[in-house]
Amino acid sequence: MPRNDLFLRALRNEPVERFPVWLMRQAGRYMPEYRKLRALKPSFLDLCKDPELAARITLLPLELLGVDALILFSDILVPLEAIGVKLTFAEGEGPKLFWDGKLSSLKPFDPKETGFVYETIRRVKELQDELPVIGFAGAPFTLASYMIEGGSSREFLKTKRFMWERPKEFKRLMDLLTEVVLAYLSEQVKAGADALQIFDSWSLYLSVEDYEELVYPFVNYLTAELKERFPETPVIYFFRGSAAFLEAAADLRADALSVDWSVSLPEAMRLYDKVFQGNLEPSVLYSTHEVIKEKTLSLLKSVPRRTGFVFNLGHGLAPDMEFEKVKYLVELVKGFRPG
Ligand code: CP3
Repeated sequence: MPRNDLFLRALRNEPVERFPVWLMRQAGRYMPEYRKLRALKPSFLDLCKDPELAARITLLPLELLGVDALILFSDILVPLEAIGVKLTFAEGEGPKLFWDGKLSSLKPFDPKETGFVYETIRRVKELQDELPVIGFAGAPFTLASYMIEGGSSREFLKTKRFMWERPKEFKRLMDLLTEVVLAYLSEQVKAGADALQIFDSWSLYLSVEDYEELVYPFVNYLTAELKERFPETPVIYFFRGSAAFLEAAADLRADALSVDWSVSLPEAMRLYDKVFQGNLEPSVLYSTHEVIKEKTLSLLKSVPRRTGFVFNLGHGLAPDMEFEKVKYLVELVKGFRPG
């Protein structure tokens, strides 16, 4: 058990002295120390594959920000290489993926091929016993859309055409990715991950109907199966465009929902018996200290419970944010007493 178990207690709805805080992308380019370690390797992917460096990066927010949880340093796209998708992270351009769109050209997932990820978790656990470590994976739909688009996209047209025009194949792809994520996350728990987060970043672009038919059943199976296998390990489901999909998501076996700023937190927390994580709009961090303080305190005061809440952003930190303001945000949350 980590010495600071505030985050795990909040996820179990147990009493807390204050709300725990961690931030998505908390170890990233906005942090000067990250940029130094990043410069040691030619590419981001090489960094992820070096457990010693990846563990050191995972730990940076413990030393520099004082957060209440650490998230494994890696990327959601990493396990796709192991099924035969070629992957590159070109400087300043975001990820590029190469897949010919045929299920037959994908190979079965061997969890050993992503051994460096579990090794990073083991090292982080060995190097400190202060904070819990969050393992993570992309949700099947978000992974499928990256494979189909070949990278980030604005319209997701290729993904939508694939799922509407070839629904059987799309479901087979979703089935396959669900099994990959299940095996991958299971190995992370065995390596010592104290909690899991599933990133469904691109759910945002779907109609509610498509979400319910083509995304929800797979996440539902995934979360139910994870809770069957690891009842003690909290599972957090992060999804964008949260307001539209909240009703469906609240039925998942996930312990916590990580929502974006499309959701009214007090309303959602009154309606659904789930732990909530979120949901400060990250752009607030581009504003002044006064605005950051006002928005953060207003969010914290709106939380209608004394536990079952984890402070986070509604999406990740951006590379051009100021480190000092991020630290100020963490201190604001840690100074707040729910009452
Ligand atoms: O939260 C954390 O600090 C843990 C590590 C983490 C990264 N990516 C590190 C990263 C996690 C959990 C992710 C998840 C991820 N990756 C998501 C889901 C969450 C979200 O943001 O919606 C998605 C969609 C990706 C895909 C991805 N990876 C993109 C679009 C990019 C390029 C954009 C960018 O900021 O460069 C990445 C690269 C990436 N992943 C970096 C980091 C620290 C930057 C790489 C670098 O140092 O050059």
